[in-house]
Amino acid sequence: MALSGGCTCSIGPSILNADLSNLAAECQELMTAGSDYLHLDVMDGHFVPNLTFGHPVVKCLRPKVPGVFFEMHMMVSEPEKWIEGMADAGADMYTFHYEATENPKECIRKIREAGMKAGMGINPPTQVEVLLPFIELLDCVLVMTVNPGFGGQKFISDCMSKVEFLRNKYKTLDIGVDGGVGPNTIQQCADAGANMIVSGSAVVKSTNKKQCIYDMRSVVNSALKNRQQEL
Ligand code: DX5
Ligand code: ZN
Repeated sequence: MALSGGCTCSIGPSILNADLSNLAAECQELMTAGSDYLHLDVMDGHFVPNLTFGHPVVKCLRPKVPGVFFEMHMMVSEPEKWIEGMADAGADMYTFHYEATENPKECIRKIREAGMKAGMGINPPTQVEVLLPFIELLDCVLVMTVNPGFGGQKFISDCMSKVEFLRNKYKTLDIGVDGGVGPNTIQQCADAGANMIVSGSAVVKSTNKKQCIYDMRSVVNSALKNRQQEL
């Protein structure tokens, strides 16, 4: 299970930099390597300057990896548009961007009504405080650690203060980080208090995916343990 109320580490590889012509096999391999869930990046060429795939692809992928938790990272304008399609395709969580909608509350309501978990992300330039009115309504928040649009970008360490701020305020919140996260940056994420770890190219390009996932999990779990002891 991907969501844990902030108390365990979940690793959700992003398949953006995988071989998308071989998506089902790539996803199966990532799950066999010890992933907890999959982070599927949807881009519309409008909210971000890139295109990926939509709900028809998710619908085809769903039966190939049954039971696997799909987090849809919706880097799209007007995220309300695709809620029903994604729910129908078998998505488990719908993470939209605060910056992409006029009415985040209504978007969350629709996601729930469609039977999915609700996540909300913020881009690096966005202040963390914008999340506060919505925290109680969300299952997860996603702090972007790159400007969304492409895999393989450099991790922006400045974003860690947002994770710290959220973790200090909310002990039982699932907090995700996404962008440039891998063995070299995981310690910063863990120390700040992230527990949902999205990692794209670091895992996908690793020659030993299992080890890479194991190592990142160990770092996050030991930070979580230290924090729990301090409580
Ligand atoms: C960025 C995406 C990320 C990205 C992660 O726009 O939302 O999920 O693919 O890939 P890496 O870990 O390579 O930055
Ligand atoms: Zn993503």
